[in-house]
Amino acid sequence: MSTTSDRPAVPEWLTQPHDANALVEAVWPEGAVRDDAGAIVFGGVSAAELAERFGTPLYVVDEDLVRARAREVLTAFRDAAARHGGTARVYYAGKALLTTDVVRWVTAEGLGVDVASGGELAVALAAGADPARLGLHGNNKLPSEISRAVRVGVGSIVIDSLVEIERIAAEAESQGRVQTVLIRVNSGVHAETHDFLATAHEDQKFGFALTDAEAAVARIRELPWLRFAGLHCHIGSQIFGTAGFAESAARVVELHARLREGGDVPLLNLGGGFGIAYTSKDDPTPIAKLADGIVAAVGRECESRGIPMPELAFEPGRTIVGRAGVTLYRVGTVKPVRVSDDLERLYVSVDGGMSDNARTALYGADYSARIASRRSDSAPALTRVVGRHCEAGDIVVSDEYLPGDVEPGDLVAVAATGAYCFSLASNYNYLTRPPVVAVSAGTARLIVRGEDENDLLARDLGVAPASRTSEESA
Ligand SMILES: Cc1ncc(COP(=O)(O)O)c(C=O)c1O
Repeated sequence: MSTTSDRPAVPEWLTQPHDANALVEAVWPEGAVRDDAGAIVFGGVSAAELAERFGTPLYVVDEDLVRARAREVLTAFRDAAARHGGTARVYYAGKALLTTDVVRWVTAEGLGVDVASGGELAVALAAGADPARLGLHGNNKLPSEISRAVRVGVGSIVIDSLVEIERIAAEAESQGRVQTVLIRVNSGVHAETHDFLATAHEDQKFGFALTDAEAAVARIRELPWLRFAGLHCHIGSQIFGTAGFAESAARVVELHARLREGGDVPLLNLGGGFGIAYTSKDDPTPIAKLADGIVAAVGRECESRGIPMPELAFEPGRTIVGRAGVTLYRVGTVKPVRVSDDLERLYVSVDGGMSDNARTALYGADYSARIASRRSDSAPALTRVVGRHCEAGDIVVSDEYLPGDVEPGDLVAVAATGAYCFSLASNYNYLTRPPVVAVSAGTARLIVRGEDENDLLARDLGVAPASRTSEESA
């Protein structure tokens, strides 16, 4: 895991901008602009208005952008598959950002939803998602989760270990239902990404080694309450090129071809992991090109083996919601810190931190920030946006240039926080988790309320509800 001490004082990719108000196009939500007062406008609603109405910190997600991106991704994979005479389906990876509204948006656009726990399943079901269009993941699904998934008729369960084969089969038998399953395999391909995020190394917890998969499938085929649909492989996250996917597809198709000798293998799920731009250094491959490259690789492999292309499935999360989300914070303190004789950095403390965005502390992730409440003519200053937790590693944006006059009371927006921020949020230091607001064509709507002190105390059985009420009313 990367820590701030591994990093250079100023990363090479960070260049001082001519204008520290400018919104780098690929990073900020499409359509984000500054209004006449200089405030950034998201989905037609100004940051100043959003902060005024809903407070800060605040997760803001642009519904229209999520929907448009869901359509774009679905079209990209369907069109790419069609060019090879095949079909494709797309499951939104709910772990990126899951609320009932988000489920409704993506399912209305034609996507299924991949859930990774009973809790995520509950949210998808509460949103009214068709269970047949859900997929359940997890390397240690609880018996209660398996039972519920089978009972509600989840479309597919992705099996992660031998013991799970028996568990799911027993549960299906006890309910008298045949359950469709896939098995997750490690292709052994190491994604070109931050090492910690890659999930297809051999020495990791997910899935079956390619060499063990045939025996697992043979066992599934012996069990009348399981229907084997195909292989699943997810090679990692925040991946930019097609090379890793293509190599992985080649290995997985080889196994897929062997499995066809023993019976039907209608589906191949190649997971998600498509990268987005967090800063000016990121240059993600356009989704249509990515889809084309991946599907072409599968097509080539199938053709060379003389087999038809199976139906393809993909599970993107970040690329659907990442860029559609921003987080708004209020600046509390600004402190110049002399880093070396010739380097000073402004530490800008905001009213959130690693509890609403764990990715910087967890993965050394990079982000971009701007003053969102006004424009400034001040010269850009090297800045670090930090939270208010009791951790030196509580950093939201490690390296950024903000106008040098950034001051307490300013709103700061952090870009591309739509994925893996709300979903990774915690109550560390008993901070309340922020609300989520959906913006769409000039309107703003609360879709998840923020927590308050009652939420923080609600599970603490040492607090009598009566005393809590009387203290509040005192
Ligand atoms: C099995 C699986 N599918 C899909 C995803 C979604 O990845 P991303 O959000 O990078 O597209 C993940 C992320 O970890 C995953 O583990």
